[in-house]
Amino acid sequence: MWDMSAHESTPAPVAAWQRIGLRRGDITKVAADAIVNAANTTLLGGGGVDGAIHRAAGPELKEECRRLGGCPTGEARITCGYRLPARHVIHTVGPVWRGGDRGEPELLSSCYRRSLEVAAAHGLETLAFPSISTGAYGYPIRDACRIALRTTAEWLALHPEIRRVWFVCFSEADEAEYRKAYVELSGGLEPPAAPV
Ligand code: AR6
Repeated sequence: MWDMSAHESTPAPVAAWQRIGLRRGDITKVAADAIVNAANTTLLGGGGVDGAIHRAAGPELKEECRRLGGCPTGEARITCGYRLPARHVIHTVGPVWRGGDRGEPELLSSCYRRSLEVAAAHGLETLAFPSISTGAYGYPIRDACRIALRTTAEWLALHPEIRRVWFVCFSEADEAEYRKAYVELSGGLEPPAAPV
């Protein structure tokens, strides 16, 4: 299992946490500079949030994805958003949960970090993530949301160029997990309510 105790002793500063928001709902409705897709290595669509994003964006998204020729697990690729309110989609491929000792935590952390890096490289300022790997890929939400939040807060602390990151929770139960993890990891802060 990945030992993250070293990270726990040096939490990200308050200013970084304050750029992270939680919201409940459908990520295809979020008008951020980019929304992140929990894709598979083919990038050719699937179920869950991937299916919802492709349906809402229209067939041009699949055409552009086809030209990318796939994406390895833990990596990220950017496309246009087409009919989405978001200008871009960043497609990342989360790990399939196989018990936790097959590199899943490192790969999941890499999804968040690489998505943030790709967004910054394209001059984007606002980004919305779904809960990667916690649906069809079976990653336990309690661990996954902690990796998502910690990786993002640590990255934001070093990179002022991304102004705001939203975690979009599809269920009330997921939102409660994210909220609990946010308060714990940030040292007692409440997630900010302000919209993008
Ligand atoms: N908005 C926000 N979150 C959503 C939405 C939505 N519209 N729809 C579902 N979720 P999953 P994975 C949540 O299965 O586990 C696909 O077939 C959902 O409740 O979409 O990374 C791909 O092609 C869950 O919390 O992604 C891959 O083959 C989260 O999104 C595979 O599934 C992720 O669930 C990827 O599996």
